[in-house]
Amino acid sequence: MKILMVLFAAAMLSVSAHAAPFAKGDPKTGQTLHDKACVSCHANMFGGDGSRIYTRADRKTKNAQQLAARISGCNANTGAGWFPEDEAHVAAYLNQQYYKFK
Ligand code: HEC
Repeated sequence: MKILMVLFAAAMLSVSAHAAPFAKGDPKTGQTLHDKACVSCHANMFGGDGSRIYTRADRKTKNAQQLAARISGCNANTGAGWFPEDEAHVAAYLNQQYYKFK
């Protein structure tokens, strides 16, 4: 019985490891947060709505971990004052819209 429990737990873990990153975030909420706190600076650098920072060929962000780290960093740098769940919403938004990490 114990063995079964362990196998079951392992199966659950591997399922969640393969789930889309940032599945806990809500992209809609993320977009609102993002558009309020994050666009002006990127737009100054890249023109338009600034989204080219996310789509340019030599973008810095190569995986979901780096995306989360960058959002955390920009949150801290800009004093947006987001909670971790806000960062998750923005990560979900940026990933759905631009990065498309699996
Ligand atoms: C004060 C200006 C400024 C503000 C405000 C700002 N950023 Fe940035 N952001 C930067 C700079 C500078 C870079 C790095 C550009 C580079 O490396 O070429 C960057 C890069 C990024 C990247 C990585 C782009 C890539 O290459 O893949 C992400 C993601 C990002 N910012 C998210 C955010 C989020 C989320 C916010 C809102 C909390 C935010 N930024 C607000 C200046 C800013």
